[in-house]
Amino acid sequence: MQTAIGSTKPRNQLQPGAFSAEEMQRIRSAVIKKYAAVSSSAAGFFKYPVGKEGALQLGYSQELLDAIPDTLLNAFCGVGNPLNIEDIAAGSCVLDIGCGAGFDLFAASRLTGGTGRVFGVDLSREMVARARANLAALQANNYEVLEITSETLPFSNHTFDVVVSNGVINLSPDKARLFAEIHRVLKPGGRLQFADIILEKELPPHLAAGVESWSQ
Ligand SMILES: C[S@@+](CC[C@H](N)C(=O)[O-])C[C@H]1O[C@@H](n2cnc3c(N)ncnc32)[C@H](O)[C@@H]1O
Repeated sequence: MQTAIGSTKPRNQLQPGAFSAEEMQRIRSAVIKKYAAVSSSAAGFFKYPVGKEGALQLGYSQELLDAIPDTLLNAFCGVGNPLNIEDIAAGSCVLDIGCGAGFDLFAASRLTGGTGRVFGVDLSREMVARARANLAALQANNYEVLEITSETLPFSNHTFDVVVSNGVINLSPDKARLFAEIHRVLKPGGRLQFADIILEKELPPHLAAGVESWSQ
């Protein structure tokens, strides 16, 4: 994906230093503002199906959806089903990058079972509070949720069997660092399973120049 903030010139976001510190801060602030609102309900914020309807269309099982209360389903705004890419074994240690209100985190916690462990990170305080409350209400007991940006993960090298992410990597203004962090925390032979969105053509200049476009 290539676009620009405050400039009409496309930049390669996978290059380290693609954006200045000030530009990255502006992008993060816009993302934090949007997802504080989305944490109550994703309805009306996205151009793709969200909530229970979105999850059904993405192939999550009815059995899973029946186990999840509407308060959690309503805030689901994933763009795919990263857990379906490859089976997650019981006992795995899993990290969900940008866990939102905890939908994939809960689904992963059922797959890993009591012998596994799942961690969620999100930069939105409101999302983290939602995820903690949602997983507590669902009586999951193998999880931890941290308020932090994914580009600075507070985990040791080689901690996780699987890193999952759903609709988040596109929102990072420092993708080179994010991928380096994911690689660092994965065990040798571990894997990243993610779903995301990409731009198929360049944005018109008036959209490319606005920080608001980043989180649309
Ligand atoms: C489209 S939502 C997806 C949420 C969740 N994965 C789901 O499927 O419902 C994107 C989430 O990523 C979080 N996020 C965005 N950029 C982030 C970053 N750099 N580090 C951590 N979380 C981030 C947002 O706060 C938001 O909760």
